[in-house]
Amino acid sequence: MTTEDPVESVGLSAKSIEMQFTVNGTRVRLAVHPLKRLLDVLREDCALTGTKEGCGEGECGACTVLVDGVPVNACLVPCAHAESTRVTTIEGLGGRHPLQRMFVEQGGAQCGICTPGMIMAAVALGPSPSLQEIRVGLAGNLCRCTGYSAIYRSITSITKSRRSRRSTKPIKAKAS
Ligand code: FES
Ligand code: FES
Repeated sequence: MTTEDPVESVGLSAKSIEMQFTVNGTRVRLAVHPLKRLLDVLREDCALTGTKEGCGEGECGACTVLVDGVPVNACLVPCAHAESTRVTTIEGLGGRHPLQRMFVEQGGAQCGICTPGMIMAAVALGPSPSLQEIRVGLAGNLCRCTGYSAIYRSITSITKSRRSRRSTKPIKAKAS
């Protein structure tokens, strides 16, 4: 009989596994410990440091990424759970997403630690979320700088600018 702590012995004896997933549209194959956090795999093994670590305990949302389109706290996800999934990080938006521009224009980013997670959580809400949907969808994303108004404004500005573009579209003349 052994007196070893069972959790520790799993951690010590488990070997790296080969893992495959798709990150920002690129197929990735890695040899990693199955319990390594997805956050660390992205930052250390994939060199995608846009995803931030705040609390490391699932409380702040700074590490939010999309796994198969669903926002998750990457600090809580063992990488084995991401096997064969499609992961999207802030880098996957290419710096050209309208939300990224609006966060800059509307003051939604100050120190920037929460910003990648906020934007990924907002992306998951779809193109035209209501203010209430934004409040609920971002409830797990904490910001210590902005007071949230500027963040909500950054997201709602996109909806407003889309609506105004639609309403100013020229009406095609009917063929006579
Ligand atoms: S770092 Fe993941 S929730 Fe805070
Ligand atoms: S901008 Fe600093 S924590 Fe949100």
